[in-house]
Amino acid sequence: MPLPALQTFERKIGRQLRLLEIRKTIIERKIERQLRLLEQKRTGIGRKIEQRIKQFEPKLEPKRGNRLDDEVRFIRSWIERPLSTGAVTPSGKILARTMARYVDPNSAGPVVELGPGTGPVTEALVETGVDPSRLVLVESNPAFCRILRTRFPEATLVQGDAYRMRRLLETLLLEPAAAVVSGLPLITKPVKMRLRLIRDAFELMAPGAPFVQFTYAVASPLPKRFGGFSAEASERIWMNIPPARVWVYRRT
Ligand SMILES: C[S@@+](CC[C@H](N)C(=O)[O-])C[C@H]1O[C@@H](n2cnc3c(N)ncnc32)[C@H](O)[C@@H]1O
Repeated sequence: MPLPALQTFERKIGRQLRLLEIRKTIIERKIERQLRLLEQKRTGIGRKIEQRIKQFEPKLEPKRGNRLDDEVRFIRSWIERPLSTGAVTPSGKILARTMARYVDPNSAGPVVELGPGTGPVTEALVETGVDPSRLVLVESNPAFCRILRTRFPEATLVQGDAYRMRRLLETLLLEPAAAVVSGLPLITKPVKMRLRLIRDAFELMAPGAPFVQFTYAVASPLPKRFGGFSAEASERIWMNIPPARVWVYRRT
């Protein structure tokens, strides 16, 4: 290409690049504005809920440890950490009992619970005959840990990240676990992370022991196509808010 033509071409490209840069900045600003608006809305909703909670709080004080009290704590935690709390209310009794039914109280070894929250499933496990001293509870939320410590003083409580379960528990568990029961909001995590979690759990469990998980989703939170485990599901529990299903996985 002759030199003047090349220079014209370069100028054109330069102009196009500058235009692209301007467009990119405009789009970035628009996205930032939308994010700020979303954040303001979330804070606004959070504040409204906080105000309602404060109105209710004096009435709740005398009835410490009741379900309404737990719901208030849960909503608070959801406002602060929506993705890791994963639910606006604790599991209902029917869902908690359905989870606990998959654990044989006479099997040997510890029973691990991941993400026990305020403890509805823990309570159901104890009700079905699991000795509280066999329970190993892994919870990341410090406020929930304080509640669990008072409610289940005989259980072993680990305040930490359940996705690092192997490292947290390998020296703590003196024998293979009889079951791992999980209330973690698995579907907020990438599939790879969920599969690593269940594989780590299987490493800590006795052969054939169940990994029990509830979900609000329609499909299995652990995709069966990856193999290595069997999966069975309970009926959908419509009485829970929101309706949920319990999945049980065993290593094949
Ligand atoms: C959907 S709630 C279920 C709580 C309780 N099991 C129930 O059924 O009401 C999820 C729980 O998992 C906890 N959680 C979330 N991510 C966690 C993590 N990485 N490690 C430990 N706990 C976690 C949350 O703090 C919360 O208590």
